[in-house]
Order: sequence, then structure tokens, then C-alpha cells
Amino acid sequence: MVTIIGIESSCDDTAAAVIQDGVLLSSIISSQKVHESYGGVVPELASRAHQQNIIPVVDQALKKAGVSKEDLSAIAFTRGPGLMGSLLVGTSFAKGFSSALNIPMIDVNHLHGHVLAHFIKETKDDNHQPQYPFLCLLVSGGNSQIILVKSYKEMEMIGQTIDDAAGEAFDKCAKVMGLGYPGGPIVDKLAKEGDPTKFRLNKPHIPGYDYSFSGLKTSFLYLLRDELKKDPDFIEKNKADLCASLQKTIIDVLMEKLRRAAKDSGISEVAVAGGVSANSGLRAAFEDHARRYGWKIHIPPFGYTTDNAAMIAISGYFKYLDGIFCPIDAAPFSRVSM
Ligand code: KG4
Repeated sequence: MVTIIGIESSCDDTAAAVIQDGVLLSSIISSQKVHESYGGVVPELASRAHQQNIIPVVDQALKKAGVSKEDLSAIAFTRGPGLMGSLLVGTSFAKGFSSALNIPMIDVNHLHGHVLAHFIKETKDDNHQPQYPFLCLLVSGGNSQIILVKSYKEMEMIGQTIDDAAGEAFDKCAKVMGLGYPGGPIVDKLAKEGDPTKFRLNKPHIPGYDYSFSGLKTSFLYLLRDELKKDPDFIEKNKADLCASLQKTIIDVLMEKLRRAAKDSGISEVAVAGGVSANSGLRAAFEDHARRYGWKIHIPPFGYTTDNAAMIAISGYFKYLDGIFCPIDAAPFSRVSM
């Protein structure tokens, strides 16, 4: 029996999860509320909160799974990318835990984790996993990438954002409308009541499979600036239509490149991952593409879209089976890499 505990602390969620023979036994996430009043993650506060939360979160994950520390085969942790101060908390915890229990340590790339969330089994007979090779659209607060996934350890980033991430576009545009943080889920909710064709926003023209969202953000900002001059209540009166138009534009941009990548590669197995994959419009667009283009789509359950440790534990499980461990002097890395 292989029992892996996963630790995730790359940004503002402290999480631990236990996976046994590929099946999820527990997944605990402590989300930090301290950042809400700042309208974004404050790195210094994030590391401090991780430091406070990590032991209780691990303790809860073990208790819920019904396993003791001594039952663990290995500890998997997020090595990067992410906020350095946050990563250091999880990495240092993993080192201490692995030394004390004399079990191996497995480093996991956070981006691989998001992609491999599709392989988390909730029961033994869960057989919904994608077949290699597949394409994965990874969209979160910090990433917008198209990844060609050849195996659990062979992933190629064939497209990525050259500036803002899709989640950032949602969050920043929500902020200028005076909506709360994070803005993505609020825009999603308001968009349901709005007309997505009401406002035209600029779409980027970037070669290949790369994305760009900064122009869209500026176009949104200019629209608000011009309309607010005519009517100070413009945002309040048009909130739902603004959200629907913004959401539609972001989704159109994301799907256009993904469609091109699928066509060029001849791959019709397509997955979505990361925080923005919780978006109802994006999920609907995936379903629509499945019908229109015969894609076999993979949309993760809501609990595995945003940062979680189950995805780190399953990634660690695959590495454990191949005997790929990490040295005790491993240092975290903050920059995006596959
Ligand atoms: O993967 P994630 O939890 O971590 C980061 O990379 O930060 O993603 C968070 C991002 C935020 O930008 C948030 O606004 C966005 O995912 N998000 C959404 C939705 N739920 C979360 N964006 C659009 N629609 C949603 N329903």
C-alpha cells in the first residue's frame, strides 16, 4: 500500500491531502481571508499565515484520512512556482517531516499538479482520467497556458500568456468596477444575468498559441472611463452586461487558441485546469466544443480547480511509483517553468 501526504503552500492556500494507492482519503484547505481587504495577495502576510496553519492542516488531513504519520510512504510538496516566502513554509515543513519520519520527499511542480488533478480518484473504480497525449488549458490567477501533456512527467508548454493571466484579467477588471476580491467568481455570478453582446472589447492578435490579456484590460478601463464621463452611475446600471461581455471576450480568446492547438496537433482529448476552470461560461464553452468538434473533454470537480493539495499528492504518487525522489537540500523556485 502506498500512502502519500501532499502539501501545498505556493500562494494563499495552506493545504494538505492524503492519497492511498491513487485514491483520495482527505483534502483539507485553509484559505487565507487576511488578503481580502487588500484586494490581492500580500506575500508577507501569506507566509505568516502558512506558518500558523500548516501544522493544524496536516494534522486534520491525517485524522480525516484515518492514517497515522507512521503509515506514510512519502511526503510530496509544492516546490514552485509561487511566492517564495509561501513556498519556503511548505518546503521546510516537508524536510522536517521527512527527516523525522525517515520517509522520502517528493517535489512537485505546481503547474504539473493542476494538470494531474484530473487523475485524482475519489473511489477505486473512478475511471474518468484523460488518456495521454492530451491538451490542457491551465488558467488561474497566475497562469494562462496551453500544455501538451505526453505523460505525468512530460509536459510541454506550447502557448502561454505574454503579460497578464486570464484570472488576473477577471480580477483586475472586477476591481475597477468596485466588485470584491477575487473578482472571477463575482463576475461569473453577475454575468449570468447580463447580455454578453452588449459591449465590444478589444481582442488581442498574438501569433501562435500565446495569449495576452493586458490590452483587453486597458480596453475595459477606457470603456468605463468614457462612459462614466457621460453617466456617473454607468457601472451600477450596467454591471451584469459589463461582466457578461468581459467574460465572453476572455472565453472567446482562450478557446480560439485552444481550438487551433487541437486542430494543428490532431489531439481531441482536451482538459481544463486551474482556478478559472470553475467559470461557468468556460465550462459551457468546453461542452459546446465537445459537441461541435468531437472533443473528449475533462473538466475537474470544483474542489480541484483552485489550489489544493490532492493534486500535489497524486503527482507525488506517480513519482513515488517510479522511485523519483528529491534531495534534502532542494530549494523552492518562484518562476514559472514546466
Ligand atoms: O488556481 P487559483 O486558485 O490560484 C491562483 O493561481 O491564484 O486561481 C485563482 C483565480 C483567481 O484569479 C480567481 O478570480 C479565478 O481563479 N476564479 C475564477 C472563478 N473562480 C475562481 N475566474 C472566473 N470565474 C470563476 N468562477
